[in-house]
Amino acid sequence: MTEETLSNLLHENRRFEPPADLAAAANVKADAYDAAAADREGFWAAAADRLSWATKWDRVLDWDNPPFAKWFVGGRLNVAYNCVDRHVEAGLGDRVALHWVGEPVEDRRDVTYAELQAEVSKAANALTSLGVATGDTVAIYMPMIPEAIFAMLACARIGAPHTVVFGGFSAEALGSRIEDFKAKVVITSDGGYRRGAASPLKPAVDEARGIASRSGHDVEKVLVVRRTGQDIAWDESVDVWWHDVVDSASPEHTPEPFDAEHPLFVMYTSGTTGKPKGILHTTGGYLTQAAFTHWEVFDLKPESDVYWCTADIGWITGHSYIVYGPLANGATQVLYEGTPDFPERGRWWQIIAEKKVTIFYTAPTAIRSFMKQGQEIPDRHDMSSLRILGSVGEPINPEAYVWYRHVIGGDRTPVVDTWWQTETGAIMISPLPGVTAGKPGSAMTALPGVTAEVVSDEGVAVPNGSGGYLVLTSPWPSMLRTIWGDDERYVDTYWSRFREEGFYFAGDGAKLDEDGDLWVLGRVDDVMNVSGHRLSTTEIESALVSHPKVAEAAVVGATDPDTGQAVVAFVILRETATADGVDLTGIEKELSDHVRSQIGPIAKPRQIMIVPELPKTRSGKIMRRLLRDVAEKREVGDTTTLADSSIMELISAGQATST
Ligand code: PRX
Repeated sequence: MTEETLSNLLHENRRFEPPADLAAAANVKADAYDAAAADREGFWAAAADRLSWATKWDRVLDWDNPPFAKWFVGGRLNVAYNCVDRHVEAGLGDRVALHWVGEPVEDRRDVTYAELQAEVSKAANALTSLGVATGDTVAIYMPMIPEAIFAMLACARIGAPHTVVFGGFSAEALGSRIEDFKAKVVITSDGGYRRGAASPLKPAVDEARGIASRSGHDVEKVLVVRRTGQDIAWDESVDVWWHDVVDSASPEHTPEPFDAEHPLFVMYTSGTTGKPKGILHTTGGYLTQAAFTHWEVFDLKPESDVYWCTADIGWITGHSYIVYGPLANGATQVLYEGTPDFPERGRWWQIIAEKKVTIFYTAPTAIRSFMKQGQEIPDRHDMSSLRILGSVGEPINPEAYVWYRHVIGGDRTPVVDTWWQTETGAIMISPLPGVTAGKPGSAMTALPGVTAEVVSDEGVAVPNGSGGYLVLTSPWPSMLRTIWGDDERYVDTYWSRFREEGFYFAGDGAKLDEDGDLWVLGRVDDVMNVSGHRLSTTEIESALVSHPKVAEAAVVGATDPDTGQAVVAFVILRETATADGVDLTGIEKELSDHVRSQIGPIAKPRQIMIVPELPKTRSGKIMRRLLRDVAEKREVGDTTTLADSSIMELISAGQATST
């Protein structure tokens, strides 16, 4: 983000007060901030009390060995019981849990809480019969179909930690996650629907299984849902149809309570090195904060609201705000399989109108693309049911915020800009819809019970009107517990930057405006945010240098009006690749396809520049700042620390001559 846009942002002076009726009936009111500040642990204990515990905890927080936290020590509960059975026991079995909307327009399925209980129980029994026991790990690689949720909850029910891998990730990415997680079983489907066509998933699982196997880990079973009916390869010794083992399983299953710190899931996310980090979330604290924040930030009234979060279950947002938070709260929600604009550009708005959605949660990148298409498309649909809108994943620019509020929300709806991360597990910084006067573009303040600060390099809180690093100054219930199998990396990545102060370093830059409200500005490390998806520069660089024609590569995130940031790669080719002259366009395409196959379509560079050299300091560190200047077509900044200052001229000259 340039200094100019930054200062424009910070002069934003529009304010949107909460609607009076919403404020009067809000689940969480202004006094919550003081209550939490006076007794933080007591505040979280009250939030935990919203769940059903088989055994109550004896201690709220054990922080005796920081940064390794234990919450609700000694407590025992079952996540699936909390998300499903207890609602049925409370007489809400007929309430719709999921209004599933498939991509083929005629594909619909409503799942009540009673049906969800039966489906999850059957899947839990089937997993047990396949040999999955408490503590065994399961990978899930599925489209947005109800079975994906049944699978996650079935794992939780039997205490088998899951890792859900986004269906858009490649076989390579899936294979390395399966291997790192040592998944005993993989749950997948033959394929899913994408823009009207069946697209395969199972072949990637077959390939990933081979990749894991070559690194010494063998998957025992692959459980396959038949979704598209397309032809797939079948290995009798490993592959099992979901309809063969789940449909015939008993719908009765007694959930066993697990320790509050029992691992619930691992979500892999990009870090500053090439290897994705397995972020571990556990049972009691995670569910407490996911459920509480969902009820608090979206002011959920489970008996009347219809909630819809457009994320994919392959991301943390899908975990906390489609599966665990909403279901623990007994919400009724829309689950949508398809893309926003297929078969027509107003598909989302048509679904909102049809299902009378009241709370809608999506990402700024989607809002920006709808803005481009024009207001006429949403205007064709009656969206008067909406009462709260949410945004997540990247900074929302004020114009997108105002458009969202005005065009989608009819100027009635508060917009909650929610800041959080895979690591935080739940929303940390956000307006409260019944309390906060919203300011377009600002995530405002830390939620009650959360302590965030913006600090200088030295770890000192900055005054209003200044910027710095976003840190969290005390532990929170849904915090990551470690990086799967790598405690040292956990400490190094998050807790060593401000070791003395004991702060969690989020990796984001932020600024406090003159009122003391917080603006998240984006990553300060080598992590990019493309359409709200986190990508590591190093991971893409590793993918590029694994191509035989590439000698060296440097990747930067360049500002992009549609996707927030876009991947721009600078590549030095090997001499052998250029020996017979180079077809630059051919090579660029080849490299781009290579990144796609190594990581997935989301990592595909917007642009690849073939360069003779890369700008490096005398100690050999690549100066990405200068490459970002080139990628964003700015004048190149200070080059005095370069080992060879003529290099930037070479790169910029190459740029001027290439198209
Ligand atoms: O840079 C911040 C950005 O997304 C990062 C976290 O990405 P991930 O772990 O994939 O989780 C995304 C969904 C929670 C953050 O470090 N980010 C997330 N929400 C916001 C945001 N940046 C600005 N404003 C937000 N509301």
